[in-house]
Amino acid sequence: MTSYEIPRPTNGDVVDLIVTDHRLFEDLLRELRDATADRAAARAALAEVVIAHGEAEEEQVYPQLHRKRAITGEEAEHGEEEHAEGNEALLALLKCKGTDTDKFDTAVEEFATALTHHMGEEEQTILNPARQEVSEQVRQDLGVAWATHRNRLLEEGCASIEQVQAIVDRATKEGLLPPEGEKEDEEKEKD
Ligand SMILES: [Fe+2]
Ligand SMILES: [Fe+2]
Repeated sequence: MTSYEIPRPTNGDVVDLIVTDHRLFEDLLRELRDATADRAAARAALAEVVIAHGEAEEEQVYPQLHRKRAITGEEAEHGEEEHAEGNEALLALLKCKGTDTDKFDTAVEEFATALTHHMGEEEQTILNPARQEVSEQVRQDLGVAWATHRNRLLEEGCASIEQVQAIVDRATKEGLLPPEGEKEDEEKEKD
């Protein structure tokens, strides 16, 4: 079994730290498309780092950038909606039992589409204002806060099916995702 190392930096400019993680996501997505890779291990690593990364952004970065008027409340909320959509696609991927099935390939591509879209939009609408409208000191402080939160979640483990299900359920309750009945291609199965 391949072990995919997830780097755990503890400080730095928050923009650099987040962009570096986005590159890691892209590398792991490529592993998930590679039939010769250990796709179960790559899926587990990607799930853990995506959840830790996004939760840390929502707790430690978006609200602070909003408070400093670098981004609007709508931009922060839109980022959370995109996290919720990505997490929902991740949940479907985690629920795939085999990794050599069409179902797995489809789930990978649906997750990749949501994640890639979000990374592009986040870099353009949230990280650019952070680069231009807050000081280097603030970016360093946010870097420590974000990395600490992310690394704690990685340490604890944050992306089992049950944990991701709970995060998706919470997002639905908060109105970040449409309620169950309104989804068209809902997967009916329970575990
Ligand atoms: Fe991000
Ligand atoms: Fe994000």
